Amino acid sequence: MREKIQNIALSADESAVCILDQTRLPGEVVYLAIKTREDMYEAIASLRVRGAPAIGIFAGYCVYVLSRTYGADAFFERLEADCDRLISCRPTAVNLARQVNRMRMLARSMRGAAPEDITAALGREARAIHDEDIAMCRAIAEAGLGLLHPGDTVLTHCNAGPLATSEYGTGLGPLLLAASRGMEIKAYVDETRPLLQGARLTAWELMNAGVDCTLICDDMAALAMKQGRIQAVLAGCDRMAANGDAANKIGTSGAAIIAHHYGVPVYILLPSSTIDLACPTGADIPIEERDGEEIRSLWYEKPMAPAGVKCWNPAFDVTDHELITAVVTEKGVIYPPYDRNLQRLFGE
Ligand code: MRU
Repeated sequence: MREKIQNIALSADESAVCILDQTRLPGEVVYLAIKTREDMYEAIASLRVRGAPAIGIFAGYCVYVLSRTYGADAFFERLEADCDRLISCRPTAVNLARQVNRMRMLARSMRGAAPEDITAALGREARAIHDEDIAMCRAIAEAGLGLLHPGDTVLTHCNAGPLATSEYGTGLGPLLLAASRGMEIKAYVDETRPLLQGARLTAWELMNAGVDCTLICDDMAALAMKQGRIQAVLAGCDRMAANGDAANKIGTSGAAIIAHHYGVPVYILLPSSTIDLACPTGADIPIEERDGEEIRSLWYEKPMAPAGVKCWNPAFDVTDHELITAVVTEKGVIYPPYDRNLQRLFGE
């Protein structure tokens, strides 16, 4: 197993947020020290840092690093503008807005205090967001592993590993924990068109951890399930509505529908920071639509579609709660009815 990768950290002088650039993986391991607001927005929008919990953690550090540059002059105006802009970078993962608003509310609660005291408190809060995610991912990995049996093979979609969170990840957590304990769980890895998070990132993380994994194209999952090769689908989540509908990477819903058809359980693994009880159903979750060039040409040497062909590129879909066998959070495994059980565990 390779050494642990740190995907997000403050620079030693705390003037930058350092990230592992996920657009360069798996070919190159490149770290970037991001200092300016424009580079912060670009890093989120272009998926240099990606995955719902990771963009929340990153944005928390960004608010802190930017707040150190404000001084006394127009501190709150600048903070509010930066928070609004950070939230606008990506709409679907609720973690982004949740963690930025957590930072903003803390600062607002200290109105009247010296700017350096507010900034110091923001630094502590950003670290707390990161530490809490590490603890939640560990608990999710442990609870998720309890649903699997030695010798099982699971299907993964997109990347819900340490790169997308802090440590362990959510959807990949049980696999990584199993590997660390010498328990064999194998994986089929959906490549995850169009941005190939499965092929580029999940395969890389699982191979580094010594997990036996096999890469497939997204449209091969049905055959794999029909042939009995898969015992469970494990996926992360970008936003879970109050009724248990789960927005995740485009294609997750298709995998869940196929799994339902073949009687394969579907497990959605997520920290409570991804649950949005203010969102009644999946129909209320905003779905990000991205540039069609990602489909036409992004990962090809030459464009693979006729120049100018129209594209529709929704980045996420919503898996209906009826298709979800269980939801795994840091508070354990939750079964239907999700509306009641999510409210009971995570309501005010
Ligand atoms: O567009 P991405 O790569 O940010 O999408 C990420 C996903 O869909 C993940 O599955 C989700 O954020 C959960 S990560 C623990």
